[in-house]
Amino acid sequence: MHAVRQWLDQARSVAVLTGAGVSAESGVPTFRDANGLWKQYRVQDLATPSAFARDPKLVWDWYNWRRSVLAEVKPNPGHYALADLEKRIPKFTLITQNVDGLHELAGSRNVLRLHGSIWEVRCLACGHQAVDLRISFPEIPPKCHCGGLLRPAVVWFGEPLPSDIWKAAETAARSSDLFLVIGTSAVVYPAAGLVQLAKSSGARVVEINVAQTPLTGDIDQFLQGPSGELLPQLIA
Ligand code: OAD
Repeated sequence: MHAVRQWLDQARSVAVLTGAGVSAESGVPTFRDANGLWKQYRVQDLATPSAFARDPKLVWDWYNWRRSVLAEVKPNPGHYALADLEKRIPKFTLITQNVDGLHELAGSRNVLRLHGSIWEVRCLACGHQAVDLRISFPEIPPKCHCGGLLRPAVVWFGEPLPSDIWKAAETAARSSDLFLVIGTSAVVYPAAGLVQLAKSSGARVVEINVAQTPLTGDIDQFLQGPSGELLPQLIA
C-alpha cells in the first residue's frame, strides 16, 4: 500500500481499468463470482447478437431486470475515491467494462465505457442511439419512433468495441505511467489486453481485487481486498 501511494503521488498520467467488482459493494451482481450472472444464465442466451435475433423479448426482459436492480443502487466509496483521484492527477482516464453508469454518478468525468451503457438504446433499423432511463416499457421489445426494434446499447459477445473509444483506451494505457486494474477477472478481451499494453509501454501496474486473477503473477503490486475499502485508503 505504501509503495502504491508513492507511485500515485509521483504519477503524471494514470489509467484505470475497472470491472464488475468495483460495483459489487453497491449491490450489483458480478458475472463470474460464485453468485455471478454467468453462473445463473447462459451468455449465448442473453448477450450475443444471435440471442437477440432469436428472442428479443427474452433478452429485453433480462436487461430490464438488470435496469431495475441498477435503478436502486448507488456508487460506493471505491467509485468516489476514483472520482477524487481524477482531480489530483494531471492526466487521468477511467476505462470501464461496466455498463451501470456508477462511475459517472460518483463524479468521474473522463470515462471510457468499453462495453457501452445499459441506460442507452440503439435502433436496429435507423441506428438512432439515445439515453433511455425507463424500466418499464409499454411493449417489449421496445420500438424506435421509426418503427425499428430497439436494443440495449451495450457490447455483446462477438461484437467489436466502439472503435473511437477503444483507440482512446489504447492511447491512455500506452501513455500512462501508472495503470490500475480493479475488480475485473481480466478474462474478457480485448479489454484485458490493455494491462499488457500498459506494462509493455513502461507503466507500473497495480491490481486491486478480492481474489487473484490471471494477471496477478505478472504485475508490480497486488492489493488484495474489496475496492470499496482499499481505494479510499489508498488516496487518503
Ligand atoms: P467478472 O464477474 O468476470 O469479475 C469480477 C471480478 O471482481 C472478479 O475478479 C472478482 O474477484 C472481483 N471482485 C468481486 N468483488 C470485488 C470487490 N468488492 N472489490 C474488488 N474486486 C472484487 O466481471 P468483469 O471482469 O467486469 O461483458 O467481466 C468482464 C466482462 O464480462 C463484463 O464487462 C461483461 C461480462 O460478460 C459483456 O457483457 C460484454
